[in-house]
Amino acid sequence: MKTVVMPGSFDPFTVGHLDILTRACKLFDFVYIGVLDNYNKKAWFTPKERVEMINQIIAANKIANASAECFSGLLVDFIKEKNACGAVRGIRSESDFENEITMFDINSMLENSFEAVTLFAKPQLACISSSAVKEICTFGGDISRFVPEAIYKQITERSGNRK
Ligand code: PNS
Repeated sequence: MKTVVMPGSFDPFTVGHLDILTRACKLFDFVYIGVLDNYNKKAWFTPKERVEMINQIIAANKIANASAECFSGLLVDFIKEKNACGAVRGIRSESDFENEITMFDINSMLENSFEAVTLFAKPQLACISSSAVKEICTFGGDISRFVPEAIYKQITERSGNRK
């Protein structure tokens, strides 16, 4: 059984993340979404809230071979803990590409067997990021095209609470 980890901050999960997850679920038997447990004040949602939201999205989209959980510490250790073959990451731009190469190099130095599978974002989704979603929402813009329906209300409500 080929298991992979899809790590990230996911504050919040976007339709771009959902597209990468859906595609990864076709390539692997099981995808563990690892939400980095480095709670900082800039984040809108705690890691626990993000995990719950992602699991709601997984259920709403009837994805049978994925689940989300928090992880702390090194990605290579989480991959080992899950008996996974590596990490899957989405790439939207050249700057993402640069970051992913650096992450691959560092992770490979930490664990020689580390593997990364990178999936290119669909062109129509490449402009979407969690930070853009938060900025649009803060200034009253419509985020319904950018986030999965299952968590739309939670994001707009959180935006209201923060004003
Ligand atoms: O969504 P993000 O913020 O781009 O995700 C970054 C993430 C969580 C994949 C990365 O920061 C990570 O793997 N952190 C775990 C700590 C670690 O292993 N660091 C060393 C390799 S960079």
